[in-house]
Amino acid sequence: MNKHHVVFISTPSFGNLLPTIQFARHLTHRDPRLSATLLIITVPQRTIVNSYIQSLSSSVTDVNFIYLPSVQPPSPDQCQSFLGYLSLVLDKHKVHVKHVISELMSSSTRSTLAGLFVDMFTTSMIDVAKQLGIPCYLFFASPASFLGFMLHLPALDTQLATDFVDSDTGLIVPKDSAIELIIPSFEKPLPPNMLPTSVLKRNKDGYSCYLNHARRYKETMAIVINTFLELEPHAIDSLSVSGLPPVYPVGPILDLAGAAQWHLDGAQQDCIMKWLDEQPPSSVVFLCFGSMGSLDGPQLREIAIGLERCGHRFLWSIREPPKGKLDLPGEHSNLAAVLPVGFLDRTAGFGLVCGWVRQVDVLAHRAIRGFVSHCGWNSILESLWYGVPIATWPVYAEQQMNAFELVKELGLGMEIRLDYREGRDLVLAEELERGLRRLMGGEDDEVRTKVREMKSKSRVALMENGSSYKSLGSLIQEICGRIEGLNFEDK
Ligand SMILES: *[C@@H]1O[C@H](CO)[C@@H](O)[C@H](O)[C@H]1NC(C)=O
Repeated sequence: MNKHHVVFISTPSFGNLLPTIQFARHLTHRDPRLSATLLIITVPQRTIVNSYIQSLSSSVTDVNFIYLPSVQPPSPDQCQSFLGYLSLVLDKHKVHVKHVISELMSSSTRSTLAGLFVDMFTTSMIDVAKQLGIPCYLFFASPASFLGFMLHLPALDTQLATDFVDSDTGLIVPKDSAIELIIPSFEKPLPPNMLPTSVLKRNKDGYSCYLNHARRYKETMAIVINTFLELEPHAIDSLSVSGLPPVYPVGPILDLAGAAQWHLDGAQQDCIMKWLDEQPPSSVVFLCFGSMGSLDGPQLREIAIGLERCGHRFLWSIREPPKGKLDLPGEHSNLAAVLPVGFLDRTAGFGLVCGWVRQVDVLAHRAIRGFVSHCGWNSILESLWYGVPIATWPVYAEQQMNAFELVKELGLGMEIRLDYREGRDLVLAEELERGLRRLMGGEDDEVRTKVREMKSKSRVALMENGSSYKSLGSLIQEICGRIEGLNFEDK
C-alpha cells in the first residue's frame, strides 16, 4: 500500500505534546494509508517532559519518534518568557528539521510526505514546509474560542494599542470602562482581565510571540482543533469565514490509556487509587492545578483552611513552585512544612494530599464528585468526558479565557475565580468553601445536569457518523487529496 507520511512538530510542554501524540495515533488508526512521525525538541530544563517522551517512545509503536539533534541552548537572559526562549530554540532547530524531513522524503520510495503539522507555538516551521514544498497544517490543542482570539489578535492589536495600553506600564487595561473587547469567537464581550498574562503585558516578548504566531496561522492549509461541534458551536461557527483556512474539530482527543504507560512514582499512584476505592461513590472533591501550576505558601494555607472547614472528602495534588525561570513545578520533599500545623493529621480521616497524579485515572474514578481545576483545555475535556463538574481556578496561559467560556458562555462550570493570577491574588478560605458547597451540592444542579449531557455528547462525537468522526474523515480526504490529486476517491 502507498503510505502517506505525516510529520508533527510539537512544543515541548504537556499541554501541546500529549494531545499531539494522541492525535497522530488517532489519525493513523483511522486510515491505514497514513503513518506518523513526531519530531522531538528537547529543552534540558524540562526533565519531566523528557522522561515522559522517553517512556512513551519505548511503549508507543504506532508513531515513529525522531529526536532532533540538540542545539546550543540560548541564554535565558535573552528572553523574558518561556515562549520567548522557545522561539530562539526553534530558530536553531529549523536547519535540523529541514534536514530530517528531506531525509524522510528521499529515503522511502513507498511513502509520500503528505504534510507537516505544527502546533500553536511551533509556527516558525511553516517556513521549512514552504522551502520543501510540502503542505503545512496546524494542530491546535486549545479551544476554538481561543483559536478565534488568536486569529483576531493581529486586527485587535491596533485597538489594544489605542484603547487599552497604559503608556507608563505597557499593561493592557481599558482606558474607559465603556470600551469592550469584542472577539467573534466569544458570544459575550471579553473582560480584558481574562487575557493570558503574557498578552496583558504588551511591551514584553510573550506578547510579541503570541502576535507573531497568530499572524502565521492563516498560512496553513487547514486547522485541526481538539474540540467538538456540540461543545463550542458558536466559536466553531465563527471560524468558518472567508480568508481563514478550513477548520476541523476532531476532539475530544484524550490520553486515556497513555497516562498509565508511564509514571514517576507508581507506588504513590497505587496508594491514591486504593484510597479512592475506599471512599463512597461521588463523595470526593479533586483539586489539581496542572503540569505547570503551583501555588505559593499563603495560598496553600487558605486552601487547607477551606478544605478543613467544609469537611468534604478531598484529594489534593500539590506541586512545588519551579526553581528556575524555565523549569516546571516539582515535588515537595516535605508537604507538612507548607501546610498549616497539624493539617495532615486532622484531615487524615477524610482527605489525601499528593504530588503528581495521573489525572485521567482520578477523574474516571466513581468516588470523584467535583474537580477544582486550573482549566487547562485538556483537563476540561477530560472532566467532561467523565461527567465531572468543574469549579474554575485558572492559573496560567489561556486558562482565564477557558474559565470564562466554561462558566459564562457554556454553563458547564462553576466559578471560584475567573481571573486569578499567580502571585498577585489570594483566594480566601471562605471563597473556596462557598465554591465547594455548590460544586459538591445537589444532584439537580443545572451545571451538573449539563455536564452529564455533555459527557454523552463528547462520546457520540467520536463514534461512527458523529461530528468529530466525520470531520476527521474530511480532514483525511483533504490531506490525501492534496497529495493524490483532485481525482482522489474516498476508499
Ligand atoms: C453512518 O452513515 C452511513 C451513511 O449514511 C450509514 O450507512 C451507516 O449505517 C451509519 N453508521 C452508523 C453506525 O450509524
